[in-house]
Amino acid sequence: MAKKKIAILTGGGDAPGLNAVIYALTKICILKYDYEVVGYKFGYRGLYNNDFVKLDLKSVGGILHKGGTILYSSNKDNLFDYTVTDENGNKVKKDVSAVAIENLKKEGVDTLVVLGGDGTLTSARDFARAGVNVIGVPKTIDNDLMSTDKTFGFDTAINVVAEALGRIHTTAESHHRVIVVEVMGRNAGWIALYGGIAGSADVILLPEIPFSLDAVVKKIKERDASGRMFTIIVVSEGAKEIGGEVTVGKIVKDSPDPIRLGGIANKLSYQLEDLIGEEHEVRPVVLGHTQRGGETSPYDRILSTRYGAYAAKLIADEEFGNMVCLRNGVIGHVALEEVIGGGQKLVDPEDELVLMAKDMGIFFGDEELK
Ligand code: F6P
Repeated sequence: MAKKKIAILTGGGDAPGLNAVIYALTKICILKYDYEVVGYKFGYRGLYNNDFVKLDLKSVGGILHKGGTILYSSNKDNLFDYTVTDENGNKVKKDVSAVAIENLKKEGVDTLVVLGGDGTLTSARDFARAGVNVIGVPKTIDNDLMSTDKTFGFDTAINVVAEALGRIHTTAESHHRVIVVEVMGRNAGWIALYGGIAGSADVILLPEIPFSLDAVVKKIKERDASGRMFTIIVVSEGAKEIGGEVTVGKIVKDSPDPIRLGGIANKLSYQLEDLIGEEHEVRPVVLGHTQRGGETSPYDRILSTRYGAYAAKLIADEEFGNMVCLRNGVIGHVALEEVIGGGQKLVDPEDELVLMAKDMGIFFGDEELK
């Protein structure tokens, strides 16, 4: 009898831990279940172009700790609404999912394992609806998926933020500067909250808590008065002033979510320097993609390994149409239908960590200081 064939693809922005999932899943599929494994390149685009590589113990060797994805990724290619060139040479949107399904059949793929965030998993759900055996694995440094307590990539990102803040402290203090550090997370403030607390930020500005510029200035002056002549502000790329709008960095055409946030650290630095430039120089630092690059943290390596191992179990149990998840420390699964309908996990302004940070004097920009 022919061996079962499993295909893996990675979609959306990369996150540290993708390679660790590929590593664990491939090894367990081969060593425990005697399946064949292939990987489609560049996410769903590879599925459309039937562009894949065989994955074996040699090809996944040494990738456990490496960030990025050996399968490459794309954040543009929704095959249910794909840009193709028609017979008149015009670019048009078309549902080409049938081509992908045909490719899977042609290659004898039994199960497709999709590693991605909400956009990629929405397509995974749609392929499951179309009859493909699909398993989802949740990925995003933003940690904003409702159906799982943790996505891999988040821990690595907050390690980068905490490390960077440590470095920024010494230079900010030496020059009595205010430094505004912009972190990722889209419109969820998890990276700013966890990274900011771990890195001992003085002010944390989250998308979920619109801030008052005057109140931030007051906080800086309050620190000055107490002899702390520098201030570290961590600002989430999706943060906004009370009554204001988010700062858009770029529009990525063809992306399911085309808005790329970015630029608030620069904007805020100029605004603050206008108000307190006599006392402090204000400098922006944008951590950007350093939060996603480099080595995967040990926590994310373990989480990804657990996700990969559980995905292999779901394949063996023929539990298709599900996403692997972590709830209260236990690995399990949840229906993709539930994942996609479940909404986005945002920081509650009354979250225990927010309240704790406030008790320690960390300022969130949302209230008048005494
Ligand atoms: O969703 C992950 C993420 O890194 C966000 O935090 C960020 O807003 C976005 O992706 C950046 O996307 P890109 O890599 O396309 O610039």
